[in-house]
Amino acid sequence: MLPSAVVLAPMAGVTDRPFRILCRNFGAGLAASEMLTADTRLWNTSKSRRRMDHEGEPEPRVVQLAGADPQALAEAARANVALGAQIIDLNMGCPAKKVCGKLCGSALLTDEPLVARILETVVNAVDVPVTLKIRTGWDHEHRNGVNIAGIAEACGIAALAVHGRTRADFYNGEAEYATIRDIKARVRIPVFANGDIDTPQKAREVLDFTGADGVMIGRASHGAPWIFRAVNAHLQSGIATPTLQRAEVRDIILAHLDSLYFFYGEECGVRIARKHLGWYCEQLLGSPAQVRRELMGAPNTAAQFAHAVKHFDDWVSEAAAAA
Ligand SMILES: Cc1cc2nc3c(=O)[nH]c(=O)nc-3n(C[C@H](O)[C@H](O)[C@H](O)COP(=O)(O)O)c2cc1C
Repeated sequence: MLPSAVVLAPMAGVTDRPFRILCRNFGAGLAASEMLTADTRLWNTSKSRRRMDHEGEPEPRVVQLAGADPQALAEAARANVALGAQIIDLNMGCPAKKVCGKLCGSALLTDEPLVARILETVVNAVDVPVTLKIRTGWDHEHRNGVNIAGIAEACGIAALAVHGRTRADFYNGEAEYATIRDIKARVRIPVFANGDIDTPQKAREVLDFTGADGVMIGRASHGAPWIFRAVNAHLQSGIATPTLQRAEVRDIILAHLDSLYFFYGEECGVRIARKHLGWYCEQLLGSPAQVRRELMGAPNTAAQFAHAVKHFDDWVSEAAAAA
């Protein structure tokens, strides 16, 4: 039983250990790691090693794997369970070219027998739950999400997350939830609806429409990890959570920066933190050019942190002066 049915979507370059912990602290029921290639020969890089680092992460720890070779995926799954993964998630939803070039991610959806072989092999290889993330199909003419869901259930997949777009859609247009509703009607395993869920109200609507067991939130968590708290409150009681005080938000952002610096070190830390600061700046400060330039241009973590303290302190004082 999960602490909440509102989960963080796996996002390469975003859902690193610090961000996963932050979102779990705000009530995300699960937070899968950034996808890790099943090709163990590529694991000896600092990027892959960081993706396998779960120290201090709340349970259950989920590792997402991407690949197309059943044995390689099984091997990778076993290795990650040995390193502390408590759920293995398989990625058949990613549209990235580099992944699709090698027929993995969402490209796998075009080969249903291969999907079955992969799922069966991985499920049999580990004694932890194996979950699957898919899109609704390859394109609008080949929307085979319902078939894939049936295969997944038959192979022993424990839960399914469905992004309401085809691979051909990339991120264009709006997610559709009718296929997710059809998938939910087809299988008895838990289904998480995903795609464009960006408010507590939208989460409620999508759950009501699809009958899904939970929702998965990706981009709406950028610069707003507290969205999980708001969605949980709305789903549980129908009421809005009190908005966080600006001083609380500032402290959360500064602690997030600290955790990024600690996790990535100086050089990589300043770069990764830029992305999150950009989102916070956009969400909260309205991205004024001067502030953005300072936050984005800071050459090291000390300067970046000092700029963040200054601008978010100003933002807190502004509210105090207006009160
Ligand atoms: C920056 C970024 C990276 C992503 N990386 C992954 C990934 O590694 N694995 C995966 O299954 N999906 C990945 N996705 C897809 C998301 O998990 C999710 O399905 C998609 O963003 C739709 O949900 P949303 O509208 O709530 O963002 C990524 C999406 C984004 C925006």
